[in-house]
Amino acid sequence: MYFLVVVISLLLSSVPAQSRTIQDLIDKIPGKTGNLTEKDDISVSTIIETNKHAGLGLDEPLIMFGDIAVPSGLQNADPCTARGCKWDRSRDGLVYVPYIISNQYSPQDISVIKRGMQSFAEVSCIRFVPHQGQRNFIHIKSNSGCYSYLGRQRGGQVVSLQRNGCVYHQIVQHELLHALGFHHEQNRSDRDKHIRILYQNIIPEQQHNFRKVDTNNLGTPYDYNSVMHYSRYAFSMNNEPTMIPIPNANAVIGEARQMNSNDILRINRLYCIEDKSAELSVSELLHRANRGNVPEADEPKLMDDIAVNEKNADPCTSYGCLWSKYSDGKIYVPYVIANHYSSRELEIIQRGLDSFSSSTCIRFFPRGNERDYISIESRSGCYSYVGRQGYAQTVSLARNGCLYHSTVQHELLHALGFNHEQTRSDRDNHIQVVWENISDDMKYNFNKINTLNQGTPYDYSSVMQYERYAFSKNGLPTMIPIPNNNVALGTSTQMSQNDIIRINRLYQCFPEADEPKLMDDIAVNEKNADPCTSYGCLWSKYSDGKIYVPYVIANHYSSRELEIIQRGLDSFASVSCIRFFRRTNERDYISIESRSGCYSYVGRQGYAQTVSLARNGCLYHSTVQHELLHALGFNHEQTRSDRDNHIQVVWENISDDMKYNFNKINTLNQGTPYDYSSVMQYERYAFSKNGYPTMIPIPNSNAALGTSTQMSQNDIIRINRLYQCCE
Ligand SMILES: *[C@@H]1O[C@H](CO)[C@@H](O)[C@H](O)[C@H]1NC(C)=O
Ligand SMILES: *[C@@H]1O[C@H](CO)[C@@H](O)[C@H](O)[C@H]1NC(C)=O
Ligand SMILES: *[C@@H]1O[C@H](CO)[C@@H](O)[C@H](O)[C@H]1NC(C)=O
Ligand SMILES: *[C@@H]1O[C@H](CO)[C@@H](O)[C@H](O)[C@H]1NC(C)=O
Repeated sequence: MYFLVVVISLLLSSVPAQSRTIQDLIDKIPGKTGNLTEKDDISVSTIIETNKHAGLGLDEPLIMFGDIAVPSGLQNADPCTARGCKWDRSRDGLVYVPYIISNQYSPQDISVIKRGMQSFAEVSCIRFVPHQGQRNFIHIKSNSGCYSYLGRQRGGQVVSLQRNGCVYHQIVQHELLHALGFHHEQNRSDRDKHIRILYQNIIPEQQHNFRKVDTNNLGTPYDYNSVMHYSRYAFSMNNEPTMIPIPNANAVIGEARQMNSNDILRINRLYCIEDKSAELSVSELLHRANRGNVPEADEPKLMDDIAVNEKNADPCTSYGCLWSKYSDGKIYVPYVIANHYSSRELEIIQRGLDSFSSSTCIRFFPRGNERDYISIESRSGCYSYVGRQGYAQTVSLARNGCLYHSTVQHELLHALGFNHEQTRSDRDNHIQVVWENISDDMKYNFNKINTLNQGTPYDYSSVMQYERYAFSKNGLPTMIPIPNNNVALGTSTQMSQNDIIRINRLYQCFPEADEPKLMDDIAVNEKNADPCTSYGCLWSKYSDGKIYVPYVIANHYSSRELEIIQRGLDSFASVSCIRFFRRTNERDYISIESRSGCYSYVGRQGYAQTVSLARNGCLYHSTVQHELLHALGFNHEQTRSDRDNHIQVVWENISDDMKYNFNKINTLNQGTPYDYSSVMQYERYAFSKNGYPTMIPIPNSNAALGTSTQMSQNDIIRINRLYQCCE
């Protein structure tokens, strides 16, 4: 489970890893597109011909710049990606663009349009999804010509793909790129370095199409083969070129048949690469939500986000503020939720409430007539009492600022009896509190509390840990980790492994009896958990040379979670002979379920074998791939038989009870090199007891280690060799 924390923080912080991921995607594109149909064999400049009469319908917008619609009342089509017209990124990192396709199209047209939409999902975080009442959406219809607005408008926005002339793969991509906010390539602010415009050859009324725009080029080079580049003769009045490449006048321009790597890179840079500041830490979220609030008369006094009532706000878990255990060993905590939340907000709250049940014995449930319960309401800011108070107790999640998964978990942890990490009794061994730089009226937030720590270590990645600059009066840190002042502090966006362990210890939840013993994320069964690929735990090869691995998926996942799991399962098919498929009556199969954490057996076990992907923490592409690789027979990279030539294991700095995770295994390495970027490689600080590295690459100690967000090339080669995919 430690793995998760690592993966998550990497997703949030590791831009280089993300770029590599995108590069991998880009490398895969040619193989994915297959043969182009004859129909596709045209350039996007065809748009110009098709658009001679574009936008002339009565209710159609003004079309400028070839194929860009100008919103009425706003005589200006400026690049707007700088904020206002980007489509929203959802908390899961994907950008959903709802669409409606008009019924004017034939089935064949629709399949071309859908293939165009799907092509974005294969290479980026953009997901075109059927419109289901969302406020903003694109409406694809056959008006006169091919055109689109630039970027997201308000409400429904037309993307016109005229049946006769626009329904081609590259034009679909081109218009959708406009709708995502991208300009023509020849408009780029730096275009004069790359093309010369021959105004004397341009149809006079069309010269505006060559106006330069102050585009955000996202650090990508000017690209003649962008699907957004028009051809050499675009808008020509005399069959002479209107654009000539510089310096090589003969370079091919504007002939793209599909998005190329730069188009893809731009989408990813604009939408998909994690912006660290976008994922705020829980403390920053709380701070923003709670600052300047004036509590109403009936609201409690707050110490930051902890409500102080007359009775007692101390840590109370040892004398009476725990919630009660029922006879089935579970802790049922009744709740009511005020009726002022939107359905989306309710969904976030519900996800927070539910997140406790997959990894602990806490069960939040709608109150019947229980005496003690939490009342979730939008009051002034985000706050909660610590522990059970008796009768109704408010957990305030203000609509304006508290509706984040981490914040919901954080406040519920207070209600369960937990304080902030930085107030722990042992905090002075782990952080230096920089009193001089804390706002004077906020110093009380750093008062130490005589907490019960349940034998868990101080955890910088606890969702209860505030970040380095919390309550600073001058922008300088208020907390500095000891001894390594560079470790990440309070950047968690959900409960950490230690948060979960603490709940389980405080409430004496024990793992369900039918769950296997775990070595980190590898399930150990009675039989054998050794690498077994040489004697019987491979999955079988069918007569067509493919390895079919049956699976079932428990029905407790949301559709978004199912999509992540499915993407992980499917990712093996494009790079190997492994085919995960839905079980019918096969004897041996994997059963994907949300149990306590992320884990898998190594290799085929016989009959059903669990691959646990807990809803709370395991639903990431890399984690899904990682656990499936275990199920296929692979161990962690750092346990490889030859690892001592490639990493130095720093035994002295590994937590004592975690050392077994570094036991070497007599692995079969399929002749592949040790790979720091394997998705099976843990990161540098895994299982550290003191913030110092536990693994150091040899000989270059600065090499990136375990920062992968998906299977590496070597992971893929290994699967292919182990399962003899190429024989
Ligand atoms: C793709 O085109 C090549 C060359 O024209 C042809 O040999 C091949 O069969 C085509 N493949 C498909 C899937 O149509
Ligand atoms: C592109 O260039 C044309 C002329 O070059 C300019 O008028 C337009 O605003 C630019 N923007 C777009 C969307 O292409
Ligand atoms: C606290 O702030 C002062 C400036 O006001 C700065 O000189 C000092 O280095 C800060 N202390 C720490 C430990 O960052
Ligand atoms: C291990 O931790 C100690 C501090 O406890 C530190 O001095 C030492 O440099 C660390 N070892 C390595 C190799 O990082």
